[in-house]
Amino acid sequence: MKLKTLLLTMMAMIGMSYSAMAQKPKVLIAYFSWSGNTKEIANQIQEVTGGDLFEIKTVTPYSSNYNQCVETAKQEKEKNTRPAIQGKVANMSDYDVVFIGYPNWWGTMPMAVLTFMESYDFSDKTLLPFCTHGGGGAQQCFKDFAKHTKKHNSKEGFLANGSAVNRSKPHVEKWVKEQTGITK
Ligand SMILES: Cc1cc2nc3c(=O)[nH]c(=O)nc-3n(C[C@H](O)[C@H](O)[C@H](O)COP(=O)(O)O)c2cc1C
Repeated sequence: MKLKTLLLTMMAMIGMSYSAMAQKPKVLIAYFSWSGNTKEIANQIQEVTGGDLFEIKTVTPYSSNYNQCVETAKQEKEKNTRPAIQGKVANMSDYDVVFIGYPNWWGTMPMAVLTFMESYDFSDKTLLPFCTHGGGGAQQCFKDFAKHTKKHNSKEGFLANGSAVNRSKPHVEKWVKEQTGITK
């Protein structure tokens, strides 16, 4: 663990705010969102942390037709596909804290998020998942995240029902503070 990451973790543990620090951690918020709910949470995290946003987009877009998208996602999950994604975070090594957001798709993370996660080395970073769902809750969304990061520095995730994201801001603020010590 980098010295800076260790220091930030210790400060979060003792409840200190990053505003009290001379140097704020560099934050990235990467997210995948098909219908906008997860994007809304990503924007709320951005407002709280002042971090940089990165949207995970597949090279071949998913159909805007719900049933078709559901079918494609099902096939990708069954085949454990890694759909190609657009662009890359150029300066990933600069970030201390990386939020990764996605909708619950078939009880787990969309395969494109795995493509993203497998494209970088997060070993010196604090990772925080956030997820929106359509009534099924987290199911395997956070368990699979932890499995794929294989890291001990992944923190408790933030979960929201997709229909309630417009009311999530205070909960997002509380979660960000509890997990990282970052305050607006
Ligand atoms: C392909 C697909 C699969 C989904 N599977 C689930 C599921 O297994 N459980 C659940 O609670 N919601 C499921 N949903 C609903 C989404 O998780 C929910 O609407 C989410 O908030 C959408 O986020 P987004 O607007 O960022 O795409 C699914 C939606 C889609 C499009």
